[in-house]
Amino acid sequence: MITFDPVQKTLKLDSPNSSYIIGIHEEKYLLNLYYGAYLPDNNLWGNAVRAPFASFSPRNPHNDSFSPDTAPMEYGCNGSGDMRISALSVRNCFGNTTTDVRYVSHRIYAGKPDLFPLPHIYLNSDEEADTLEILTEDIATGAQAVLYYTAFRKLDVITRSVKVVNNSKEPMDIERAFSMNVELPSMDFDLITLYGTWNKERTCEKRRLVHGIQTIASKRGSSSHMHNPFAAFLRHGAGEEQGDAYGFSLIYSGNFEISAECSFQDTTRIIAGINPTDFGWHLEPGESFQTPEAVMVYTDKGLGEMSRIFHRLINNNLIRGRYKTEKRPLHINNWEATHCDFDGEKLFSIAQCARELGIEMLVMDDGWFGKRNDPTTSLGDWYPNPEKFPDGLDNLIKKIHALGMKFGIWFEPEMVSPDSDLFRAHPDWIVHCPNREPSIARSQYVLNMSRADVRDHLFGTMYAFLLENPVDYIKWDFNRNLSDAASALLPPERQKEFFHRYVLGTYDLMDRLTRAFPGILLESCSGGGGRFDGGMLYYSPQIQTSDNTDPIERLTIQFGTSLCYPASAMGSHVSASSRTGYVTKGNVALWGDFGYELDPTELSNTDREIIREQVKQYHQYYHLIQSGDLYRLIDPNDDPYKCAWSFVASDKSEILAAAVIMRENHKTRFVLKLAGLEKNRYYRNEENGEIYSGALLMNAGIDLTNVIRKDGESVLMHFTSV
Ligand code: GLA
Repeated sequence: MITFDPVQKTLKLDSPNSSYIIGIHEEKYLLNLYYGAYLPDNNLWGNAVRAPFASFSPRNPHNDSFSPDTAPMEYGCNGSGDMRISALSVRNCFGNTTTDVRYVSHRIYAGKPDLFPLPHIYLNSDEEADTLEILTEDIATGAQAVLYYTAFRKLDVITRSVKVVNNSKEPMDIERAFSMNVELPSMDFDLITLYGTWNKERTCEKRRLVHGIQTIASKRGSSSHMHNPFAAFLRHGAGEEQGDAYGFSLIYSGNFEISAECSFQDTTRIIAGINPTDFGWHLEPGESFQTPEAVMVYTDKGLGEMSRIFHRLINNNLIRGRYKTEKRPLHINNWEATHCDFDGEKLFSIAQCARELGIEMLVMDDGWFGKRNDPTTSLGDWYPNPEKFPDGLDNLIKKIHALGMKFGIWFEPEMVSPDSDLFRAHPDWIVHCPNREPSIARSQYVLNMSRADVRDHLFGTMYAFLLENPVDYIKWDFNRNLSDAASALLPPERQKEFFHRYVLGTYDLMDRLTRAFPGILLESCSGGGGRFDGGMLYYSPQIQTSDNTDPIERLTIQFGTSLCYPASAMGSHVSASSRTGYVTKGNVALWGDFGYELDPTELSNTDREIIREQVKQYHQYYHLIQSGDLYRLIDPNDDPYKCAWSFVASDKSEILAAAVIMRENHKTRFVLKLAGLEKNRYYRNEENGEIYSGALLMNAGIDLTNVIRKDGESVLMHFTSV
């Protein structure tokens, strides 16, 4: 519900349990009067206008009591008296960057605008949400910002983005255009972010907000392993299942920034959007620029409920296509088994053995094309290596299909090896600056995806390949970050547009391919989880979570990832190398899009039996894991010894709980308390037939002290209501 109150001059966005209130000041400033638990009313002006600071806060020339320096500005502008981090800064035709957009008009309607060509949250029907569009303008320069907000009717979610328009007769340049700005009237929060590196993505990090600016960002050309475009703010005293939690996620795969600034008045401004470093956008008269979309979630039920809201939203309103609802195939990937050293015969033997274990799809990883036998050559030469497939790749695909299996394939479309026919034919297609030798990483250059000719070539090549080779799945990899950012096809005043144009180019290619081949399941990957974000999920319903398949290491990765992303998004594999046995590898990998990454011909008979059992579990628990509610029961970041989580069916009729011992603890008992059940309902432990009330399972718990004890041991427990 979105309402305008002409007396109070407020715009109020309500979701079932949250309210977001914008005030229109008499000088036409837009103020963020409130964001938090649902309010039935809106009499907030008394809280809004904070006293300007001594003589140091610049004031409105017509209203000495108002200063943008201390007011909760709805979309903080640079240079016009607001001294905090700004959401918007536009260099005007006079050369200065003072920006001051004020309210002009608004409109409210059911539904949500389409942000194509940007990935975005979509509605399944207009009844799902309402949209508010506020037109603002800087009358001195003609820079306009249209602020878009969509409030969901049944989910505590507000999405937002901004369109900057040049409504003047002179060119102008955007220097900063963030997707969102929120003002919280206090700073009693912990900021939770997901940092990492290759093999250790999305590790939770919690810090107490302090005065000044705290930032996470990427300028790697992708969202990156190092920081994820997501941040949560947890009020002091709140926890996993209680208290105020705010979550902000950016639907974007490129350079981003999320910052929080705590002011001298102990208030907090939060902004999220494209990283302004190395960003700019030139606007000729009449032109506009659309920012990526940000998602905001508020709940008073803690971090767990915040995550579950994100999960529902991503599953229902971001993931698209056939595999939004269709079961994802249980697959085996040959990378860890063979690296590039394989041929059609080896793959077929893996497939036969995997089929016998009940695995449904073979994914052929890196090394099938050009003359690639290691990562130094042939990226860009997307034709099968005739030595590896003497009977043709199409024949191997036929044979695998005849086994009753699907067939998947690896591509890294955005990259090219210096030793490739593509690079020899088009050396100018790589990302590079004039007069400078570009850097190289993993023996590869990056193709300039901002160029239409490069994208057309890639589309044409992949289209022809896919017509001839009917694959069921593509793993789309991206194995280095960008440097030497420039494009020969952009004029100097538009070079700062490069990074964003690159991302738009990648989205364009993904869009064309997924439209042309809607039956193919796309999984994105970037050295594991280096581009794990909402932008990618719009095209690929699942993403490789990490190259790290050690189940103990995976625990912190999966817990961190789950803060924002659902199990359905997390590619999760069991591999041969790790510290634990197959039971624990499987129990951990079941939390995601389950698969194997090993040579099944080398498995012992005992491990084969365990895998057969896991395949059954995969089918039995698939829907519960993919569409159930996640409860994080014991966080591996908080407990050095053990960790546990569960999936609860939305009607509370079924629970799958998992617990892992990371390190043996010789002293204490391990009693696991479940969460999210109905306290007066009774549940049967399917393993031993014992029956317990929901209240007992949540308050007294189940004693696991004698069930799992040693390093790496784990247990799965399935309860159904009786
Ligand atoms: C990346 C991926 C791996 C594998 C290799 C192939 O590192 O994360 O799974 O596909 O590339 O080169």
